[in-house]
Amino acid sequence: MTPADQSRIHHPAIAGRVMSAEEAAQFIGPGDNVGMSGFTGAGYPKAVPGALVRRVEEASARGDRFAVSVWTGASTAPELDGALAAVDAIDLRMPYQSDPVSRAKINAGLVDYLDLHLSHVAQMVWEGAFGHLDVAVVEVTGVTADGELIPSSSVGNNKTWIDQADRVILEVNSWQPAAFEGMHDVYYGTALPPLRKPVQILSASDRIGVPYLHCVPEKIVAVVETNTPDRNTVFKPVDDTSQQIAQHLLEFLAYEVKRDRLPASLLPLQSGVGNIANAVLRGLDGGPFRPLTAYTEVIQDGMLALLRSGTMDTISATAFSLSEEGAADLHANIAEYHDRIVLRPQEISNHPEVIRRLGCLAMNGAIEADIYGNVNSTHVMGSSIMNGIGGSGDFARNAYLAMFLTPSTAKDGAISSIVPMVSHVDHTEHDVHVIITEQGVADLRGLAPRRRAQTIIDHCAHPDYRPMLQDYFDRARASSAGQHTPHLIDEALSWHARYLRAGTMRPD
Ligand code: COA
Repeated sequence: MTPADQSRIHHPAIAGRVMSAEEAAQFIGPGDNVGMSGFTGAGYPKAVPGALVRRVEEASARGDRFAVSVWTGASTAPELDGALAAVDAIDLRMPYQSDPVSRAKINAGLVDYLDLHLSHVAQMVWEGAFGHLDVAVVEVTGVTADGELIPSSSVGNNKTWIDQADRVILEVNSWQPAAFEGMHDVYYGTALPPLRKPVQILSASDRIGVPYLHCVPEKIVAVVETNTPDRNTVFKPVDDTSQQIAQHLLEFLAYEVKRDRLPASLLPLQSGVGNIANAVLRGLDGGPFRPLTAYTEVIQDGMLALLRSGTMDTISATAFSLSEEGAADLHANIAEYHDRIVLRPQEISNHPEVIRRLGCLAMNGAIEADIYGNVNSTHVMGSSIMNGIGGSGDFARNAYLAMFLTPSTAKDGAISSIVPMVSHVDHTEHDVHVIITEQGVADLRGLAPRRRAQTIIDHCAHPDYRPMLQDYFDRARASSAGQHTPHLIDEALSWHARYLRAGTMRPD
């Protein structure tokens, strides 16, 4: 527990509710809908989930089942998602996860998983689509003397959880910098139709809300003090394939600028996380495009580096997703970053209206893409969930340019990421403008389906699979099937069956 003179809780009544995580977890009951903070491993509660796991284990020892529904912003961490899934304490999970234990339970059919567009979640909760929210467990950085809550390293759905829940449990984490105060922009003007008004964000740096989360003190039933780091994403060195994909993307953007289809400072960037995104951001650093801005979901190390070097002016997001080194840099240099970063609720960071108005350049990963430009971001072999759609649909559907980036093969070449027909569709051919693999760029704008197919085969498929895809496409065109989007349906789907049967997509 933090000594009183160093406490981050400056409101006496709220300070009076400080207790242990075990005591706080007593406010969560079997069958509850629990809204937890957390987005890409940032700002999730660090102590109460562990205490809840112990309650679940005690119940199980008595022969009782204790499970809850867990709603979050996006992914959390092993000590939340992983630990609760491991003891079968999750009945329903939404709207996104990326934890291996949780993934295994979902794919075993033991957890119901709602994989949702992240901008939709708050609205659907306000509608009551998932039932009533019983408890919110939200990490904050501190509590002001007026009882305002200073948000943490992610905002996610916290405003909605606090508004909607009957009971609120706060975790006040003194590991998060006190200087976060003022960095957030929590917009309280949202309403359901027909009362909805325009969201007046005209540039990534605009602030339209307040820097605090509001909560009536009477709703706060427990406060737990912690001093615990975020999950921290392990930073992998950029590999050759990611480097090549990044290089193709940068050349494509330069070409668009040269043709006056993009301004020299580009348009606000949105980038997923991971190896490819890091390679892209690194490639932008110190490059010709400046000053850049980002209207995105997550701030990773590469984006902080762009701010530091002056290549980027401002970032709007809903969460950080930093390595240990990235977090250390943020904490050490917070004064320098403070006014150039805006963290918003995810219904605003991912708001379709704003994304369309600003003209975001969306760069997201894909599991596979088909020759007509449909993209699967979520399901391996059509059935097994990987993570979820996250914000990729919010951005791709509304972006100025929707780009999908993927290596052309997976599993050491046994799988072609370019297939005749995707085994699951997240982003339809109507939402996908550009596909980039290490082989090259397929710019699909202005191309009818048959031209799209030839472009994707020529520019994105791996040479090992290019003849097979060409053969498929040629035979589909020659068949009596319709010519708008030629397919040999049985054969298209047999690519995945072949991998499931023989461990490779190559022919027998
Ligand atoms: N078939 C089967 N498996 C495939 C595959 C394919 N075509 N392509 C990739 N995979 C597997 C990889 O082998 C790897 O499996 P492993 O963990 O067992 O090794 C896994 O999928 C992840 O692939 P990886 O190449 O490491 O890609 P990544 O980390 O860049 O993730 C996505 C790619 C698509 C899974 C990821 O971008 C994602 O979850 N996207 C959806 C959400 C999103 O876009 N969020 C950002 C919005 S702001």
